[in-house]
Amino acid sequence: MMKIHYVIYLGCLLAAGPVKSQQVQQTTATKEIPSLKAVFAGDFVIGTALNAAQVEGRDPRAALLVPQQFNVATPENVMKAAPIHPEWGRYNFGPADALVEYGRNNNIGINAHTLIWHSQLPRFAQQLQSIDSFRLFFQEHIKTVAGRYSGKVLSWDVVNEALNEDGSMRKSVFLDKLGDDYVTEAFRLAQEASPNTVLYYNDYNNEQPAKRAGCIALIKKVQAAGVRIDGVGIQGHWSLGKIPLKHIEQSILEYAALGIKVAITELDIEVLPRNFQGADVNQRMQATPSTNPYVNGLPDSVQQQLAADYRALFQLFLKHRDKIDRVTFWGVNDGNSWLNGWPVRGRTNYPLLFDREYQPKPAFWAVVGLKNK
Ligand code: XIL
Repeated sequence: MMKIHYVIYLGCLLAAGPVKSQQVQQTTATKEIPSLKAVFAGDFVIGTALNAAQVEGRDPRAALLVPQQFNVATPENVMKAAPIHPEWGRYNFGPADALVEYGRNNNIGINAHTLIWHSQLPRFAQQLQSIDSFRLFFQEHIKTVAGRYSGKVLSWDVVNEALNEDGSMRKSVFLDKLGDDYVTEAFRLAQEASPNTVLYYNDYNNEQPAKRAGCIALIKKVQAAGVRIDGVGIQGHWSLGKIPLKHIEQSILEYAALGIKVAITELDIEVLPRNFQGADVNQRMQATPSTNPYVNGLPDSVQQQLAADYRALFQLFLKHRDKIDRVTFWGVNDGNSWLNGWPVRGRTNYPLLFDREYQPKPAFWAVVGLKNK
């Protein structure tokens, strides 16, 4: 479909008589961009986070690029508790339904995100005082949301970010009100509501040794209770020149040894100054003149480092392709990455494989080049 489209377009340009050579070059270049999903077919599926504008077709260049490049997608926000369940007993399913529909129309499977998370939790739930009311919210939320998309999504991130950096349980409202069995309970409820869906635990920095140990303990606890857990998501919000390859590899091996799938669920590489690692959305950094250095473009040396980092990562993913079922980027292109707004608002960031013009960057060619040897 896509190929035919471009061939016809090119044909029209040529039939229209003399055209500027730049125009033809651009068209030809677009036509010749390899497809990530095709390049890695047989290794793992390739995903992207999608925002509402992309799903609703308000981003025409994404509308072309996304189905060409990706075979799965994760909603960046619309399935989180605050947007989908804004008030007690009231659900806002429209945007999430639109995503499911978009996936069906474009042959893109949906990796749903996320049922139980302390962030982007509706205000009413945060304010519930009684344990019984909170438990009821927890149960109803999972039953209703997971139930609605049962058979319509491939997977759920059932619980997101339940752990501290030292591997202990995060002191969230869930832990506070429900105790540390809440993770097991969430998986049990998700399985009941959506029996044929792949169920993941998802976190950032869970490739780091202490947090990984906590994550393994948590997964074993769910398994020991006889409750199904199918996979672990390593979010993969890493930083330029500091990709923890050794820890990632060790994590892939140890998680796979638990008999579960490993997915890289939110991949991006921070290229801007940062005084901490990871992706705690509640953590912020002060903006100073030096925190936004590349407003007018990325220096070549940084571009090359980004390409080298992505290349090393995908080399590792390919080495363990039998254990990794998915690699999902957190955004389609640099222009719509969340890292332009977090942990400092209003920065110009470059964390993905496609630039602001939806064109492949050197990092894209470095990744694709791994398969063309
Ligand atoms: C981010 C979204 O990209 C932003 O649009 C939103 O404002 C905050 O959340 N870990 C996760 C994702 O699991 O849900 C977060 O997404 C990024 C960190």
